Amino acid sequence: MSVASADKPKKITTHVLQEMKVRGEKISMLTAYDYSMAKIIDRAGIDVILVGDSASNVMAGYETTLPITLNEMIYYASAVVRAVERALVVVDLPFGSYQGNSKEALNSAIRIMKETGAHGVKLEGGKEIVESVTRILCAGIPVMGHLGLTPQSIHKFGTFVVRARDEEEAKKLVEDAHVLEEAGCFSIVLEKIPARLAAQVSQELKIPIIGIGAGRFVDGQVLVSHDMLGINQDFSPRFLRRYHNLYQEITSAVNNYITDVKNLEFPNDKEQY
Ligand code: KIV
Repeated sequence: MSVASADKPKKITTHVLQEMKVRGEKISMLTAYDYSMAKIIDRAGIDVILVGDSASNVMAGYETTLPITLNEMIYYASAVVRAVERALVVVDLPFGSYQGNSKEALNSAIRIMKETGAHGVKLEGGKEIVESVTRILCAGIPVMGHLGLTPQSIHKFGTFVVRARDEEEAKKLVEDAHVLEEAGCFSIVLEKIPARLAAQVSQELKIPIIGIGAGRFVDGQVLVSHDMLGINQDFSPRFLRRYHNLYQEITSAVNNYITDVKNLEFPNDKEQY
């Protein structure tokens, strides 16, 4: 007899995401890097939580995603996994942990799966990393691809402008997407590319395509939670919709606290022993 409890949420798996694409239900994905935020986002009903290497920017204050280490990603990801009951948790392989060779890529992916309990990994790149993708998949680890603006290559691009606007880069992106699907990736993130191109990829591929700055004709959307909640005010690309202004809310709560402390209004008689 099944012991599954009726109030336990149905877990999101890569298979569930595939079914969502087939029935046209859009996939929601947000980043999280710590236990408390992951718990809120998971209980709110998000489908996928990405422990992105954007932690390098929003958690550690680096200008790019390049400095974050595998150990740091493992630290953030294990905190997230401890909080999550329903969402699929995907973790970015950080810069330098998979580009060297496919054996190194596999070792990095195994460390993430073993030490965090996450459900899959994400790698940036197309054809050039397909050997690593294949080796990781052969070990039974689900892989999400990432094409378009791939922030780990920012020094090669030299700028954060929209990618694949010209025909040659667009053609390569479509080819790369097919290569990743054929290798066995369960999904691909497309970042900051023309909406029409993203729509084409989503139509041509069977696996779910998740967009960020890639328009709405894809299978789901991802945003960095610190950006969409308005905690981070330093980043305002056109594709970003802010759903809250937490920077202002937190500032005003902290100001009220400072005032109460200075004026001896906190703690009051009921807030002491
Ligand atoms: O690191 C990250 O947050 C990401 C998303 C922007 C897709 O890769």
